[in-house]
Amino acid sequence: MEVVITPDYEEMSKFAAGMIARQVKDKPGAVLGLATGSTPLGVYRELIRMHGEEGLDFSKLITFNLDEYLGLPPAHPQSYHYFMWENLFKHVNIDPGNVYIPGGITADVEEFCRWYEAEINKAGGIDLQLLGIGGDGHIAFNEPGSSLGSRTRVKTLVLQTIKDNSRFFEREEDIPRFAVTMGVGTILEAKKILLIAGGEKKALVCADFIEGPVTSQVTASALQLHRQVTVVLDEAAASRLKRKEYYNWIRDNKHLVRKYLGS
Ligand code: PGA
Repeated sequence: MEVVITPDYEEMSKFAAGMIARQVKDKPGAVLGLATGSTPLGVYRELIRMHGEEGLDFSKLITFNLDEYLGLPPAHPQSYHYFMWENLFKHVNIDPGNVYIPGGITADVEEFCRWYEAEINKAGGIDLQLLGIGGDGHIAFNEPGSSLGSRTRVKTLVLQTIKDNSRFFEREEDIPRFAVTMGVGTILEAKKILLIAGGEKKALVCADFIEGPVTSQVTASALQLHRQVTVVLDEAAASRLKRKEYYNWIRDNKHLVRKYLGS
């Protein structure tokens, strides 16, 4: 796991957007896994800027989102469909036919989940998966206790997630209790993974998933089993890490790392 500590949210967002832009330039038809939440907003702003000012081309990209609240129609202002169109897709030249987001309203949710996994495979698998992390250590909506081999399915949200997300809803009781989410096993099949986290409130959980044991109680810790993960943090989110010096040395000596490790 490569851990990159940046001074603030702005720099974290620019670093992560730079990695995504490199992926898109290297492979214009790349398959991106995308995330919602407040953390990726800066990354999406930077990608929109790159599209407008530098011609970053989204026309051949295929995207798969991680999750959606069960029961919310795409037009609902708190749905993740709405979030993605408002905060990224409507500002860039993506082909709407290439956008996949789990359905909040489907007649047969199990069948839908099987279809979603099959579409990811048909597209050739995810080249780069962007992730945030929940206060309880979840990636996508894989709440504590989720199987580390789980696939796309319906998940019951835990109370902390419901509280964390209450800021987006008028009343706590309006927040859906269930979500359709890619599983931890689905996420681990992405070729590369990029997790971003910012702020003091993520400091403990970042120390847990990066430097603690692999456990289904902190599903992000499963990323320790993946071969190509970059974690980009701001100083506040990195403040509880024990091995900060080591991560910073690697960041500052990239030329040597490249010389000996080749990437
Ligand atoms: P946040 O959510 O980016 O709004 O903190 C992250 C998550 O729950 O995955």
